[in-house]
Amino acid sequence: MFNKITVVGAGHVGATQALRLAEMQVAKEIVIVDILEGIPQGKALDMYESGPVMGFDTRVIGANGYDEAAGSEIVVITAGIPRKPGMSRDDLLATNAGIVREVSNAVKKTSPDAICIVVSNPLDVMSYVAKETTGFPASRVFGMAGVLDTARYRTFIAERLKVSVEDIQALVLGGHGDTMVPLVSYTTVSGIPLTQFLGQDEIDGLIDRTRKGGAEIVAYLKEGSAYYAPSAAVAQMVEAIAKDKKRILPCAAWMEGQYGISDTYLGVPCKLGTGGVEEIIEVQLTKDEQAALEKSAEHVRGTIAKLKELT
Ligand code: APR
Repeated sequence: MFNKITVVGAGHVGATQALRLAEMQVAKEIVIVDILEGIPQGKALDMYESGPVMGFDTRVIGANGYDEAAGSEIVVITAGIPRKPGMSRDDLLATNAGIVREVSNAVKKTSPDAICIVVSNPLDVMSYVAKETTGFPASRVFGMAGVLDTARYRTFIAERLKVSVEDIQALVLGGHGDTMVPLVSYTTVSGIPLTQFLGQDEIDGLIDRTRKGGAEIVAYLKEGSAYYAPSAAVAQMVEAIAKDKKRILPCAAWMEGQYGISDTYLGVPCKLGTGGVEEIIEVQLTKDEQAALEKSAEHVRGTIAKLKELT
């Protein structure tokens, strides 16, 4: 078991995240850091007091600084502002970049050996900001997007086919946004290709809903964006790392020539263990899927360039 995992941001994603991790008992201590006075402390104490009922011994503490977070093995960065209806994730660029930079500087000083999982949006670009600011190797800085996008896709397929979500295997690659790339060729129902169950039109409909999955929730909530499924996705990644499970999960990883793509973060299948992203797995893609992945990479690179102009 890990000693300490820190969640930065005590908002919707961060608080839900901390509770999920405490309940899973993947570390002895969960530290929640936020700039709001009293909020991380109050939420942490409330969570900690649920331990006797839920049956966990994880210590949960809240703080406004990073002393308590020092020496964390994993830091999950959820600090930032969420989307409002009509906003794209890219609209959060400048504000969240400033916040992620500040957080990353503190993590670099206090938890120099940590693995950073970035959740703040726009996800791929915020992962870049965290890597540049901490100077950590790319294997230790990556983002959560693919597991969430894949979970949404799997949910919609299972609902349509009236089968268990557990039997849907799928892979959604690319950037976390409109250019994400669900791989139909790797989507199966208990090993049976999805194309044996549904026609292309119906599959396209499910893909379209997956692409707009985040916006669908933002439209309902009006104030803020999704947090239950995002925190569940991060929890799966944390578990794979803390237990050195070597799971193959889609993560936003720094590309160094894989799939012929470099100099950008992009959602690709990664092997996750105690070393973080231990390997990027290259799967065969159709021509269209490769083109879609390259287009997605281009979009993320463009947003990184936009950020550089702004700062
Ligand atoms: N350091 C620490 N915490 C910060 C900082 C900072 N510099 N700046 C802001 N925060 C905190 C806020 O005080 C707030 O408690 O981040 C928290 C964000 O919480 P919410 O507003 O509830 O947002 P949430 O829904 O959790 O989303 C956070 O995750 O999924 C992404 O797009 C989403 O970028 C957004 C992020």
